[in-house]
Amino acid sequence: MTDDLKQLIRRLPKAELHIHIEGSLEPAMMFELAGRNGIELPYPDVESIAQAYNFNCLQDFLDLYYQGMSVLQTRQDFYDLTWAYLRRCKQQNVMHCEIFFDPQGHTERGIPFETVINGIGTALEDATTELGISSRIIMCFLRHLDEKSAFDTLEASKPHLDRITGVGLDSSELGFPPSLFQRVFDDAAALGLKRVAHAGEEGPPDYVYQALDLLGVDRIDHGNRSLEDTELIERLVQERMPLTVCPQSNLRLAVVDSMSDHPIRTMLAKGLNVCINSDDPAYFGGYVNENFDALVDATGLTGDEIVQLVVNGFESSFLDGPDKRKYLDQINELR
Ligand code: ADE
Ligand code: ZN
Repeated sequence: MTDDLKQLIRRLPKAELHIHIEGSLEPAMMFELAGRNGIELPYPDVESIAQAYNFNCLQDFLDLYYQGMSVLQTRQDFYDLTWAYLRRCKQQNVMHCEIFFDPQGHTERGIPFETVINGIGTALEDATTELGISSRIIMCFLRHLDEKSAFDTLEASKPHLDRITGVGLDSSELGFPPSLFQRVFDDAAALGLKRVAHAGEEGPPDYVYQALDLLGVDRIDHGNRSLEDTELIERLVQERMPLTVCPQSNLRLAVVDSMSDHPIRTMLAKGLNVCINSDDPAYFGGYVNENFDALVDATGLTGDEIVQLVVNGFESSFLDGPDKRKYLDQINELR
């Protein structure tokens, strides 16, 4: 039975809406790029990089994540990183992806915005023609940096808005509420950009309310802690607000105690619009299919629930109507 479900997961075309491209930097590529760019890593070999990935909370992970991305220097590095992720997508039948990147993680260390966006953007363009994968780019503001830095980043993005669909908010959540970024999100909205924000990963339900009411988001990234507030759940259900849930990330960052405690089935049962994503696959042990597999093994997720999660992913995407319909029709034929 479990094997049938794992086949179903593999057969279905999928959309991934919550993936930080810098979090797809596998240890082997980190090592290779460090060598290529003459950068000293605090690890003797590839194996010891993966062994260092023991996190007690979001901040433990973020410290290593920002250190890891320091090997990314050239346009080709960003291209290679993105292309490696897209090849995984193809292997896993992820046919549409909406990729986050963290411009300030690069501009703060002297890498020009355009180096980053052009490397990522060219790989995504090539994937459309060579792999048949569609995509969008979402630029995230780092919430541990100040509002001025976010405004500077929005300014730097202006010559590249043909490549950018939306803005997001990520990094250390506790102590950095969405309200700090209301004005920059207002300006992003005025530029016609979509808006998403990480909220309710470690932060309280109030941060989810703020993301909805002050930032005007189209999706909430994570949103797990919404379950603590009955009124909030009702609102999210009524608005059919997407929550981009990331099970292996939740386990590795101690948002849940064990995979069998993951609330995904409860979320579905309450009518929440949840979908499954990898977040930072190179750090958390797997891409989209492995996230589904882990839920099947630990929570008893059913075939109907798998299909619902996959449908939710496409419906919550920024694809236009006809493209959504195309994928939803394919899913209907396979279910
Ligand atoms: N940046 C990369 N992954 C993240 C996560 N899970 N939460 C917040 N910021 C992030
Ligand atoms: Zn994330």
